[in-house]
Amino acid sequence: MRSVIKWGIAALVLIVPFATGAQAGDHAYVGAQKCKMCHRVEFTSWENTVHAKATENAKAAKDRKFGPECLQCHATNSDEAMAGVQCEACHGPGADYKKMSIMKDVEKAKANGLILPKQETCNGCHDGKDHHKKVEFKTAINNKKAIHEFKKDPSQFE
Ligand code: HEC
Ligand code: HEC
Ligand code: HEC
Ligand code: HEC
Repeated sequence: MRSVIKWGIAALVLIVPFATGAQAGDHAYVGAQKCKMCHRVEFTSWENTVHAKATENAKAAKDRKFGPECLQCHATNSDEAMAGVQCEACHGPGADYKKMSIMKDVEKAKANGLILPKQETCNGCHDGKDHHKKVEFKTAINNKKAIHEFKKDPSQFE
């Protein structure tokens, strides 16, 4: 009996930190400020997009009442402390890929949670229901007011 309790407690100690952290899969979110130091071009242009302002815009909505359910799409990881549709909402939570030694190798970065967005990435929020209109990846990607400036020509992206 004692050992059952002991193992039960050991299991709780192991599980709890994972249950309370901001996780998606096995990776934690770090916030856009952490990407800024290496990706200033993308950060500065993203900062002015509607995605970056998605939380404040939802709160200011006149025709719909703001509530926590809005954050599923109007914030990163449904977390108001991670306001706006930040880098990691499209590129995946960055705790495990943001290190230079991993980032410089795109395959390693992907193995550690980096996502190069595709149509499906957008569909999670742009699901075609209610006011959440569908977007077409190929055309939307040229919209600098929505995503960010690119170093490569966006027509090369799938
Ligand atoms: C320590 C510096 C550093 C940090 C911090 C960092 N990156 Fe990177 N990242 C790089 C380097 C270097 C590359 C590869 C060369 C390039 O594209 O600039 C890269 C590449 C990328 C790419 C393009 C991969 C490709 O081949 O198309 C994406 C997307 C990306 N990073 C997103 C992020 C996001 C999101 C964050 C924050 C969670 C982040 N990075 C944090 C250095 C960094
Ligand atoms: C399933 C994802 C999702 C949820 C949940 C959601 N939104 Fe949105 N919202 C979107 C998307 C996607 C857009 C961009 C649509 C477009 O303009 O094509 C948007 C746009 C908006 C806009 C700006 C454009 C407009 O239609 O006026 C406001 C304001 C807004 N949402 C408020 C809210 C509020 C308030 C809630 C909660 C009651 C909410 N949204 C819940 C996905 C969502
Ligand atoms: C986490 C949810 C989420 C994801 C993922 C997401 N979006 Fe959005 N998107 C939104 C919300 C919310 C808005 C509305 C922001 C506002 O107006 O405040 C929006 C707005 C837009 C707009 C502006 C619509 C207009 O009114 O002109 C475009 C274009 C867009 N998104 C394209 C994309 C593309 C392309 C992708 C995938 C690469 C994507 N989005 C991924 C939530 C998301
Ligand atoms: C609405 C979705 C979305 C958000 C938010 C977003 N990105 Fe991107 N990002 C993309 C797409 C789409 C691509 C092109 C996909 C590819 O590289 O195949 C891209 C490409 C990149 C690249 C490599 C290509 C280049 O030429 O610049 C980097 C680096 C990057 N993003 C960093 C960031 C950082 C840093 C943030 C936050 C400040 C951010 N992104 C926010 C959708 C997004």
